[in-house]
Amino acid sequence: MSNAPVHNIDVPAFAADPYADLTTIREGTGAAFVPQLNATLFCRRETIHREEKRVDLFSSRQPEGLMVKLMGENMLRKDGEEHASDRKITFPSYSPRTVRDHWSERFRAKTQEALDALAPQGGCCLVRDFAMRVCGEALRDVTGLYDLSWQEVDATSQAMIDGVANYHGDPALESKALAAVARINQAVERQLDDLPEYSLLKVQLDSGMDVGPAAGNIRLAISGGQNEPRDAIAGAVWALLTHPEQLQMIRDGQATWKDAFEEFNRWQSPVGMVPRGVTRDEEVEGVQLSKGDRVFFMYSAANRDPRVFDAPVVFDITRNNSPSLAFGAGPHFCAGAAVSRELVSQVALPMLFERFPNIRLEGDVRFHGWAFRGPVEVKVRW
Ligand code: HEM
Repeated sequence: MSNAPVHNIDVPAFAADPYADLTTIREGTGAAFVPQLNATLFCRRETIHREEKRVDLFSSRQPEGLMVKLMGENMLRKDGEEHASDRKITFPSYSPRTVRDHWSERFRAKTQEALDALAPQGGCCLVRDFAMRVCGEALRDVTGLYDLSWQEVDATSQAMIDGVANYHGDPALESKALAAVARINQAVERQLDDLPEYSLLKVQLDSGMDVGPAAGNIRLAISGGQNEPRDAIAGAVWALLTHPEQLQMIRDGQATWKDAFEEFNRWQSPVGMVPRGVTRDEEVEGVQLSKGDRVFFMYSAANRDPRVFDAPVVFDITRNNSPSLAFGAGPHFCAGAAVSRELVSQVALPMLFERFPNIRLEGDVRFHGWAFRGPVEVKVRW
């Protein structure tokens, strides 16, 4: 077992706000063993940026890990050639060119429909009523699973994410995750006679991949492609409405919606960490790791590392946030980054603020989660 200094956490308090614990670890020795998570947490940006690339030592393969046990194999849990092959096969669905030429128009049309439906209501919860729908519709297109409603995309995504982050072993979360997997598999089966152009289902089956592994990568896209952009849309709106001078900068053309999106992702890290398995005994940054240890690379801590970011707890869309690790730091760098940049910063944010120029917050906003983190609800009026 790792000999990193022990840091105990209170799991519910950590889920409510992990930053105090993460700061203590990062500004102490940089890494700590957290018994409640049975993992060694690395918290400094430079360490994570360097070490995540050492896939021979920090493996993504985790046949006994929660993701594979609940959701089956997928590219996020593969290494080396096997992983590179899946990346190549799925690239035609995720590529910047496909996003520009094929998905962007659809994202706009669906966002327009969502705004038209909301307009007469005079207000809504942005997470539930806007972002959830916009992201669910986008994933129906990208995956090709039109048998799922956008509400089901969100529900299955959330159930899988809760299952994968269920490190304390709640049986109710486990069975909800398994039911979500079964529903997605059913939707895959029902779509096999009609494969939508550029969809993940089509590009994988066209490459000769079997339905089983193709469905695994589709489940991954749904679990990884719904809640992060959903939380980034609602969260970035909240961040801009609570920093009106920065919203004004965008309206005046001194900053962009993309600046706001990237800064929100750094500041709140929708994906707070990635897990890895240690393949051999080795010392890293003064910590003696043992084969079989579980390591969490804490992006949320790295993205507030004062060695890299000035005043890291401040939301500032003018900063250079290119060192942000919000989309990853190694070969598993978010495959859907181009999709989410388009959806959030070119479509959802500009269209929302254009349609409702006087949009304002109603009530406080609470964030939740440490492995995946986002606002619970964001109530607005216009
Ligand atoms: C705000 C939006 C998003 C954020 C912050 C985000 C973040 C991440 C992160 C941190 C990783 C893991 C990186 C690593 O292990 O090094 C990842 C992987 C991945 N993401 Fe995203 N993501 C977002 C949106 C999306 C969307 C919209 C999709 C799909 C349409 C998607 C699909 C994937 C896939 C397939 C992987 C696995 C890549 C691989 O294993 O090679 N993501 N994402």
